[in-house]
Amino acid sequence: MILVTGATGNIGRALLNELQNRGAGPFRGLTRDIARAGFPAAVEAVEGDMGRPGSLTPALEGVRSLFLVPGMGPDAEILDLARRAGVEHVVLVSSMTVQSHPHLGPAAANLAVERALKDNGMAWTVLRPTQFASNALWWAEAIRERRPVRVPYADVGLPAIHPADIASVARAALTEPVHRGQTHALTGPRRITPRQQLEAVARELGREVPFVEISREEAHRDMAAFLGDEVAAAILDITGGDVNEELLTVRDTVAQVSGAPARTFGQWVRENADAFR
Ligand SMILES: NC(=O)c1ccc[n+]([C@@H]2O[C@H](COP(=O)([O-])OP(=O)(O)OC[C@H]3O[C@@H](n4cnc5c(N)ncnc54)[C@H](OP(=O)(O)O)[C@@H]3O)[C@@H](O)[C@H]2O)c1
Repeated sequence: MILVTGATGNIGRALLNELQNRGAGPFRGLTRDIARAGFPAAVEAVEGDMGRPGSLTPALEGVRSLFLVPGMGPDAEILDLARRAGVEHVVLVSSMTVQSHPHLGPAAANLAVERALKDNGMAWTVLRPTQFASNALWWAEAIRERRPVRVPYADVGLPAIHPADIASVARAALTEPVHRGQTHALTGPRRITPRQQLEAVARELGREVPFVEISREEAHRDMAAFLGDEVAAAILDITGGDVNEELLTVRDTVAQVSGAPARTFGQWVRENADAFR
């Protein structure tokens, strides 16, 4: 039995599809609210709150492989619980920033979970994806309301990854033993700037999508209001203020592991255009 956490999220929904389409054996999806989750009928849904690890006992029953999206509860405690429940292998979503920006707080938090997993005794696979294509959803409300999108670093391009490609690699990692003990750094197929991303959205909508480039200070004010100062500063560093070769490099891991070319940002926009209408 495979347990997918974050199953209603960007990666999780795609992973449930992958597991189903590939006939990967029994799996279940974790959500805090089955009624709202909207899983396909074939998916075994299970409720649990990672903020309350005790509530995960039914979800973990009989599970041998765990797909873990961290940061939603006490991860080290959740890993202990998983091992005691009989989990043998964990596929962990970490972040490229662990290797590109280890000095930043969010990267250090991901590194701490990686270490807790490796120290725990279960087999492990670590995924370190770069910026998600789905981060463009941050612009969706402004685009729907036809307000100009406010964007810092409009011409800094990162190799944004389609979350379904993280799911493709996760599916392989969960079902093919060769990935145990491996760390996979994952990117999209090419670099794409925010300006080019907004152009792709405009093409898909068939209308102009206006944007204004704002300064780092303005962007920090916008973001710190709901993310706090440290996370806002970290996001601004890794989206343009302090990028480096490690973060900018396009990697072919997705194609190597999944056997299919990495999906483009354009494909993500086609699949998610309704969010911007
Ligand atoms: N965005 C990026 O650019 C980026 C880059 C590198 C790494 N990452 C990492 O990717 C991960 C996020 O992946 P994602 O985008 O697929 O996730 P997501 O779309 O944000 O979804 C997370 C899901 O987790 C569930 N959840 C939230 N709190 C929970 C709780 N207390 N207990 C149980 N479930 C809970 C929610 O489902 P329910 O509401 O149904 O419970 C939600 O659908 C993070 O660890 C992040 O650090 C992101």
